[in-house]
Amino acid sequence: MATLDLTFTPCPDEPLALPANTSAHIWQIDLDVARDAMLSASEQAHAKAMRHAEKQSHFVAARSALRLILSKYVGGTPENLPLATAAQGKPFLDMAGAPQFNVTHARGKALIAVAPMAVGIDLEFARPVRQLDRLVEHYFAPAEEKALTALPDDQRAQAFLAAWTRKEACLKATGEGIAGGLHRYHVTLRANEHAQLISIDGNETAARAWTLHAFRAFEDGQAAICAATPSLSLQGFSL
Ligand SMILES: CC(C)(COP(=O)(O)OP(=O)(O)OC[C@H]1O[C@@H](n2cnc3c(N)ncnc32)[C@H](O)[C@@H]1OP(=O)(O)O)[C@@H](O)C(=O)NCCC(=O)NCCS
Repeated sequence: MATLDLTFTPCPDEPLALPANTSAHIWQIDLDVARDAMLSASEQAHAKAMRHAEKQSHFVAARSALRLILSKYVGGTPENLPLATAAQGKPFLDMAGAPQFNVTHARGKALIAVAPMAVGIDLEFARPVRQLDRLVEHYFAPAEEKALTALPDDQRAQAFLAAWTRKEACLKATGEGIAGGLHRYHVTLRANEHAQLISIDGNETAARAWTLHAFRAFEDGQAAICAATPSLSLQGFSL
């Protein structure tokens, strides 16, 4: 099976132990479900300045969910957890012994990965891809471009999105973000292949330090997680 079928169990009431070495927790959150806001003062100000009502409500829901989830691992009041942002924009918890995490959101849904090592996560929903050839030429490694163009037309948008989520998960794990260069991360993309990071800048040894998994979320969402470990098991929770 090329894409993992994760089970998402309801959020436990009790505190949670950090995921063990070589494992990660994945949280699935519906941002349109009404919940208490749990934001820091600066996040409240940021939300207030947002003009688009839906974006504002999704930002509040996603940040509050993140704080609530992290407090389950490290204790404390969600609003007061010291969230900080690294140079390229990746949020992190600025306290000793804290887990690492990453957030992705699309169409009112969010996924949060929590792990003891660097981790990145990405979510996309099936959609037509405009200017696919141009994007592939620009952002894909030559071997990926070859694999994609060899596919029948009706499989190409799906394979493109599979590759895109996998590459973005890698760049979010390292914290580089898209500016780090999607073409540098060579991943598998065919529907019958396991998700795998094949090489980074052509270096297969460097890629083996990371694990990439693809999984389904929210029924029709295509997601990928990448973590700095040679093997990775996953456990799903829903908030
Ligand atoms: C982070 C990035 C990959 C987001 O991609 P996306 O598909 O639009 O959005 P996603 O929903 O998957 O992820 C967004 C979340 O990623 C996290 N994030 C932001 N920067 C990140 C980075 N460098 N690495 C990892 N995670 C990052 C944030 O938690 C963000 O959510 P939030 O803003 O609500 O806190 C992309 O915007 C990016 O590369 N940003 C880095 C800065 C950059 O290169 N800017 C280019 C300006 S020219």
